[in-house]
Amino acid sequence: MRPLSGADIQVVMDQPILKRFERPVPRYTSYPTAAQFHAGVDGATYRDWLQALPAAEAVALYAHVPFCRSICWYCACHTQRARGPAQLEAYAELLERELDLLASDVGEGRSLAALQFGGGTPTELGGKALFRVVNRATRLFAPAPGAEISVEADPRFVTAELVDMMALAGVTRVSIGVQDFDPAVQRAINRIQPAETTAACMQMLRDAGIDHINIDLVYGLPRQTLDSLAATLATTVRLKPSRIAVFGYAHVPWMARRQRAIDEATLPGMDLRLDMVRLIGEKLTKAGYRSIGLDHYALPDDPLAVAARAGGLRRNFQGYTDVSAATFLGVGATAISRLPSGLVQNTGALDQYAAAIRERRYATARGVAATPEDRLIADVIERLMCDFKVNLPRVARRHDMPEHIFDDDLARLQPFTDDGLVTVEGGQLCVTDAGRPAVRLICTAFDHHLPTSNGRHSPAI
Ligand SMILES: C[S@@+](CC[C@H](N)C(=O)[O-])C[C@H]1O[C@@H](n2cnc3c(N)ncnc32)[C@H](O)[C@@H]1O
Ligand code: SF4
Repeated sequence: MRPLSGADIQVVMDQPILKRFERPVPRYTSYPTAAQFHAGVDGATYRDWLQALPAAEAVALYAHVPFCRSICWYCACHTQRARGPAQLEAYAELLERELDLLASDVGEGRSLAALQFGGGTPTELGGKALFRVVNRATRLFAPAPGAEISVEADPRFVTAELVDMMALAGVTRVSIGVQDFDPAVQRAINRIQPAETTAACMQMLRDAGIDHINIDLVYGLPRQTLDSLAATLATTVRLKPSRIAVFGYAHVPWMARRQRAIDEATLPGMDLRLDMVRLIGEKLTKAGYRSIGLDHYALPDDPLAVAARAGGLRRNFQGYTDVSAATFLGVGATAISRLPSGLVQNTGALDQYAAAIRERRYATARGVAATPEDRLIADVIERLMCDFKVNLPRVARRHDMPEHIFDDDLARLQPFTDDGLVTVEGGQLCVTDAGRPAVRLICTAFDHHLPTSNGRHSPAI
């Protein structure tokens, strides 16, 4: 065992034990996971689910923009180069029309808990189009006090004009992609981005009053070493973003064909990935960041850290969030929506998406209805992913289920308990410090769909 301590977490890892569990597992950004989606859920079902939402319930909105100026080889996001400004302009208009459609089914003026733009690179739409979409959303829905409007941006293409329009639109948080500052790693992923570019982008945002800035990093990238990662972490800390996400590189070339450009011989192995997780926790907590869930870090006064302290951390398709709304409605190609009745996903085919929205139909391609048992398990998995602990009897009571409903799941947990990755006492399940990197694997013990799932997933660590 190799103990290591940071400011607010202690990471104790026994690599031989964790290696025994080395296998691909879902990211558990939802339950059931996307592997369970099927074409039997269509636009008519989605409309029924939307109309069944209780009137007083707030929603969060997510808009997906599947375009980038330049494509990074490591990227597993659904995105492509746009054909030109006309395509981007037309796409922004489709987002507005889909928002109209949603508002007509859930009722105009419904409380809006958050508005999030992701991609791809939403800033590719340009400042004016982005402004229009934000404006449409905030006219159709009623932003709740403190509701954040956040946008993912690629700092290589952020201009002063774009920043001004975002500030004018009321954007409160910008999340920028960095991944790694090392030039050799940047070449290996086809993303050349000098540190000065990132720093200049952050300065422009701060000058415009947008001072909630997130930085995305990735570990496990080609040519990354512990030294290069340490240097990247040091540069990141100097830039003082309010949040840092450090994702484990998901190498899924059967899904993301662009990853075939990456030389697999240059990818860090499992041992090195585990050392990287350890280094990240150590360096970022020492720099004053709080460790949040599996892969996020936030300054103590950031809403994500505040929510985590209060037990209010949530997980959705974009990762960890402090937005407490149970319903997330996604617009745009491939966007996923989560409702109490189930999950739905829009088609990723841009022509089909455009045709559906122009005909005032939902572009739903697939989804899955949630059973009462699914909602119970979703609750367990979300608490484990967010808090690394869950009180099973309490969750059972919340869902009007008997306590013994977890008997088979607890039996499946036994190998993890035997290896000291989990403790169970009086129904209180705790992931130990050693078990934290394996939390997704631990969640599989509760996943009733996994044995029948055809999905291929990313590595567990
Ligand atoms: C939509 S991008 C961020 C915004 C913008 N497009 C950019 O790259 O600057 C979302 C993030 O997903 C993460 N990501 C993408 N592909 C990944 C992969 N294969 N494994 C792990 N993380 C990945 C990266 O950290 C990336 O910044
Ligand atoms: S990382 Fe960002 S910029 Fe690069 S291809 Fe993916 S979405 Fe586009």
